[in-house]
Amino acid sequence: MLMFVVGSGARHLGDEMKRFSGDILEVEIMKFPDGEKYVRVLGSADEATVVQSTFKPQDEHLIELLLLGDALRERGAKRLRAVVPYLAYSRQDRVTKEGESISVRAVMKTIGLYYDELYVFDLHNPETLKFFPGRAVNVSPARAIAGYFKEKLGDGIVLAPDEGARERAKAVAERLGLEFSHFEKERISPTEVRMRPVDVNVTGKNVLIVDDIISTGGTMVKAATLLKEMGAGKVFVVATHGVFAEGAIERVSKAVDELAVTNTIPTPVSRISVVPDILSL
Ligand code: R5P
Repeated sequence: MLMFVVGSGARHLGDEMKRFSGDILEVEIMKFPDGEKYVRVLGSADEATVVQSTFKPQDEHLIELLLLGDALRERGAKRLRAVVPYLAYSRQDRVTKEGESISVRAVMKTIGLYYDELYVFDLHNPETLKFFPGRAVNVSPARAIAGYFKEKLGDGIVLAPDEGARERAKAVAERLGLEFSHFEKERISPTEVRMRPVDVNVTGKNVLIVDDIISTGGTMVKAATLLKEMGAGKVFVVATHGVFAEGAIERVSKAVDELAVTNTIPTPVSRISVVPDILSL
């Protein structure tokens, strides 16, 4: 029987998961006095799905994912899936200065020591899935995002803050039957960039800007401010992962009509749930 195991990085999803699935294996998760993690699975399963998001403290959540894998194997699990709503280190996906690590590769290879399958939500660079030794899937939160903004957006436009994020905007727009585009960034001087939405007229239209991560909020504030200057109607912003540096929620909230993120990371604006997607994997 397939059982779910909820790590401490996914406790915020646990109640909703329990409402829809009774198949949850209880675990004890504690810390030794020196700070090291301790896990114990209270039962066994031939097949298990461990749900563990790896937001701050990232390293602790990652280690816990490995310990849970080890404990489940010890209890005889034959097949293990890791569902990692937010995968830490995913932005360090290339060497830009000689001597750097490709951190996402190190993380994926290590998870692969225990898990046969890996499911990650909206991975920063989906090409990095190749580093996982088993089956690895990038799960799109587009269905949940589209459902949340459907009424608010009306016949609006969906935009990506840059060309790289265009597929994300497209996935949401297609579910809503709306037009989509992306911002083009043009560097005018070493300290100044000009951004403009390509090939769409936003005047009087509600706009939803879709990205994978909001960190400082700088990208979203810039894009939203520009849209307001261009005469857009309501400006909504959404990201899958609310990584949020200090003060980012307030900064972005001031510049837009609504800021929402999914609950891959628990935040005060995690208004969109990925639990239905997790349960249908
Ligand atoms: C960048 O490649 C990501 O997709 C996000 O656009 C970026 O992480 C957002 O960062 P910030 O909120 O600091 O502008």
